[in-house]
Amino acid sequence: AEPRPIAMVTTLNGYACQRRTPLQHHNAVLTDALLVLAEKAEFSENEGRSVALRAASVLKALPHTVINMENLQGLPCLGEHSQRVIKEILEDGKSREVEAALHSEQYQAMKALTGIFGVGVKTADRWFREGLRHPSDVASSGHRLNHTQQAGIQHYDDLNMPVTKAEADAIGQIVKEAVQAVLPGAEIILTGGFRRGKPTGHDVDFLITHPEEGKEEGLMPKVVSWLEARGLLLYQKTNRNSYLEATEGSARPPNNMDRFERSFSIFRLDMPGAGPERHPQAALLEQAQDDSSVGGRRVGESWDWKAVRVDLVVTPFSQFAFALLGWTGSQLFERELRRWAGQEKHMSLSSHALYDSKQKRYLRASCEEEIFAHLGLEFIPPCERNA
Ligand code: GTP
Ligand code: MN
Ligand code: MN
Repeated sequence: AEPRPIAMVTTLNGYACQRRTPLQHHNAVLTDALLVLAEKAEFSENEGRSVALRAASVLKALPHTVINMENLQGLPCLGEHSQRVIKEILEDGKSREVEAALHSEQYQAMKALTGIFGVGVKTADRWFREGLRHPSDVASSGHRLNHTQQAGIQHYDDLNMPVTKAEADAIGQIVKEAVQAVLPGAEIILTGGFRRGKPTGHDVDFLITHPEEGKEEGLMPKVVSWLEARGLLLYQKTNRNSYLEATEGSARPPNNMDRFERSFSIFRLDMPGAGPERHPQAALLEQAQDDSSVGGRRVGESWDWKAVRVDLVVTPFSQFAFALLGWTGSQLFERELRRWAGQEKHMSLSSHALYDSKQKRYLRASCEEEIFAHLGLEFIPPCERNA
């Protein structure tokens, strides 16, 4: 006989960084709905985004499926709005508000337009008001686009295709070769979603460091040149380290802004042997446009490479643990760590350092475990930071 569902009551802590959030969880139907509402709020630039994100995050951490409203008793972060949506889904299988959002012209257009690399909510909203709905509308609108947006439009299809772990590893090999060539002894580490165990991602994130402090200075331009000389970069924008200048003369960093040497780039990843079947739309495009090019690749020739977004960050060894923690994510987990540090511990956490306002000093750490300990938090491994 089926076990009778018992009234599952779980209590969870209020900060996502106090909870274990695995990648696979039991409430995807509910969290998917709440994440649509978070997106909808983001698109109209209202405060609802973080509220919905926190609510979804709580449900991701539950060890069981929510089957009735009693299951929600004692859970933090579930406001009246979230509860109403959850109730509707439990009763009717779907939420009218979520369905309406998914079908609305604004949501669909904003999703498509913000899907362009280099286009944020503000720009997308302006374009939407002007009647643009698709990347193709933007391309034909005659708007002046910056270099990032031009690359975003050019490689739109590739960049909106998930990056697989195998592709991330292939890029890792290339970055490793580049880094070793320009600075022997330097190390690279895969961070971001892949470090949390995600099977796919929207980009690939790497941290680069060298065990001898100072050796890493000026590394990024050399790595970028090495890659460019081999035709491996379709786009790159490199920012030099500005951490020291920003902190000079002040006791602590002015904010949580990241000031590492970093590069936002688009790699050209060769896919040996990959044919048109890799792009299901390839055949159609080939019929439709005889001599045009898509994403820089001539239709009709073999489809043998893919554009992939890659983030590279160079960190001094002494800041490595903070950078690793800061770039592993998830984004909500990071935001909650900083909120916890500030509100509960009177500390300020960034991807560079942890400052204790009471002791008026920086707290050192050589691994993530030490940072959690400084913060008075139980260590949460990367695969359980999927908040
Ligand atoms: P996918 O790439 O979509 O698979 O997810 P992801 O978790 O890897 O997201 P993303 O690559 O956007 O970011 C990875 C981590 O880096 C997240 O925790 C972000 O908060 C963090 N991150 C992204 N941009 C910045 C930045 O400018 N500064 C700092 N300090 N962290 C950032
Ligand atoms: Mn990522
Ligand atoms: Mn990234």
